Amino acid sequence: MEFTVKSPANIAFIKYWGQKDIQLVIPCNDSFSMNLSECFTEINFKVLEDPSIKEMQIKEYKSSEYKQATDVELQKVLDFYVTLKKELSITKDIGFTILSSNSFPKKAGIASSASFFSAIALAFCHAFQKEISEKELSILARLSGSGSAARSIPDGFVWWHAGLTSESSYTESIGANDYWDISDVVLVLSSKEKKVSSQDGHKRAQTSPYFESRQQLLPKILSDIKAAFIKKDFTAFGRIVENEAINFHSVLMTQNPPLYFWSGKTLEAIEHVIKLRQDGTECYFTIDAGENVHVICQKDQVEVVRDSFLKTAFVEDIIVNYPSRGARIL
Ligand code: PMV
Repeated sequence: MEFTVKSPANIAFIKYWGQKDIQLVIPCNDSFSMNLSECFTEINFKVLEDPSIKEMQIKEYKSSEYKQATDVELQKVLDFYVTLKKELSITKDIGFTILSSNSFPKKAGIASSASFFSAIALAFCHAFQKEISEKELSILARLSGSGSAARSIPDGFVWWHAGLTSESSYTESIGANDYWDISDVVLVLSSKEKKVSSQDGHKRAQTSPYFESRQQLLPKILSDIKAAFIKKDFTAFGRIVENEAINFHSVLMTQNPPLYFWSGKTLEAIEHVIKLRQDGTECYFTIDAGENVHVICQKDQVEVVRDSFLKTAFVEDIIVNYPSRGARIL
């Protein structure tokens, strides 16, 4: 049996940071994201008779060849394989080879672990011929360790209900990919891999003196962004997204040890977005756990935003994304 899975990365408009339960990956707050059409992982999965063969090769962004995964990368997949089998009460063991390729740089604040682990969750379920609901699949993807992988399962615009238990912490689509013509223009400022993983960062979130005030503000922020989304009020939506990015990074920069993901180029990109807006192009920035910047705008502004950033010296590459479907078998 051989098949291909494609799954998108997602950009969180309201971000998940901090966990109520580290083991079960239950977040402290709801989060809300959009799946990205041009930032995705594709996995070719072969099921083998011999269960002793479990291998993985990876083709990185802009590379033309597959390379053997590192021991650490393979071990994360093997750990997830064990978790998933346990969750689904599967006793059978299978062998597999995985060929994974990425359309964007990994570990650079563009959610590469979300696209990868959502693809792997779907691939394992398909390999075991398990028919499960989207909600259940999102719960399994969450248990990979990369919680945001759960948001790459449903289509389009996705809400993650934080929940209190494993069963109540799941994602659902609140808008199909054609619901709203907005775009995430990803500015690749550097493809360098970050030094601290989000998984490690979450564990220290509560050490920030601003963590609690963020938690207190979030219910209103979440209900305001949902209202702006339902009304398709882009100005209200964009302002919330930008404020949230600053709120999120204030916690990161003040936790112990602090996480400074921004570089000088990140600040240059922020200034450029503000200047574009002053000159009449409506766009807003958000920044995930990495130095790269996501510029959110409506479809009719994409060319202006893209062309303007192409003229700058600090941008290495630009990936224009529209809302996308979630994880699927091709
Ligand atoms: O998906 P994780 O567990 O690796 O955490 C990533 C969380 C952020 O990307 C930093 C924010 C988010 O909600 O996407």
